[in-house]
Amino acid sequence: MTKKLFSNYTIKNVTLKNRIVMSPMCMYSCVNEDGKVMDWHLTHYTSRAVGQVGLIIVEATAIDPQGRISPYDLGIWNDEQIEGLKQLTEMTHVHGSKIGIQLAHAGRKAEVEGNIIAPSSIPFNDEMRTPQTMSLNQIQETIQAFQEGARRAEEAGFDVIEIHGAHGYLISSFLSPLTNQRTDEYGGSKENRYRFLSQVIEVIKEEWEGPLIVRISANDYTAGGNTPSDFIYYAKEMKEQGVDLVDCSSGGIVPASIDAYPGYQVKYADQIRNEGKMATGAVGLIVNGLQAEEILKNERADLIFIGRELLRDPYWAKTAAKQLRVEIDSPVQYSRAW
Ligand code: FNR
Repeated sequence: MTKKLFSNYTIKNVTLKNRIVMSPMCMYSCVNEDGKVMDWHLTHYTSRAVGQVGLIIVEATAIDPQGRISPYDLGIWNDEQIEGLKQLTEMTHVHGSKIGIQLAHAGRKAEVEGNIIAPSSIPFNDEMRTPQTMSLNQIQETIQAFQEGARRAEEAGFDVIEIHGAHGYLISSFLSPLTNQRTDEYGGSKENRYRFLSQVIEVIKEEWEGPLIVRISANDYTAGGNTPSDFIYYAKEMKEQGVDLVDCSSGGIVPASIDAYPGYQVKYADQIRNEGKMATGAVGLIVNGLQAEEILKNERADLIFIGRELLRDPYWAKTAAKQLRVEIDSPVQYSRAW
């Protein structure tokens, strides 16, 4: 019998050949500090396409140079960066994988020279710099930069855009009351804290008609922070705005200890999917085909995001197929080996 992990999934107008998604993972490999795609990125992502991943999501890619986690991050803040990204989408398409890009701004967790910005001037911890409180002008400029990023993603031939709304980076720091202490229309109530993400979604939609995913941190793990039930509200808002799927991660807002056991974030994907009526992706210590199949068949999530296991094993789709005792396609060049 076919396994759900290897069944098609249509997200808006794009059909994935299976439910396996490569989770976005920073490679910090732009050695020239210009945010351009290097040979490393071409090799690294194309290997996972050869390995039969259904959807590859390229690492957090900065929409503004001040929004980089490090000087070595990929960027999508100028038109010169489009060419390398286009090469990347073309090379992965050859192998039948779809490819998305995670549009990101690191906010107060940016580690580049110069000013860092956030909704409020609160540093992440004692070692990190204190960000400048964003003016309304800076908020508008940053929203504009997300729009430009989406236009470039479209020109580069991506199939999916994922907005990075997790892990305490800029968007996530607007959503959380722990990091957003603004008293204007961008802070205070849940509705106000959602406004920045809402406006980012609206401008992206002006440039982008394809599938839109938002990655969230469904739990701040700290008193006074966002909890999974807050994301039922946010997910409903996102659905109304036309977001197709919520990728359910957690944490990273403030230093907090997290008990990371196998599948520790699946319950968030489950709750948002079944209470929030929003398609979800599950991520976090999912390492085995049986584990992935259990999550899908029990309707706890629609897609399975695999992070580190795909760094260890670029052919994880093959490994999972063996664990589930099914055969899946291989590149014709490898047909004698598998
Ligand atoms: C990550 N993660 C991550 N998340 C994200 O949203 N954008 C990113 O760019 C990165 N970068 C990144 C780099 C590296 C080296 C690792 C290991 C992780 C988090 C990642 O996508 C995933 O959510 C977690 O690793 C949990 O899933 P796994 O690894 O347990 O399958």
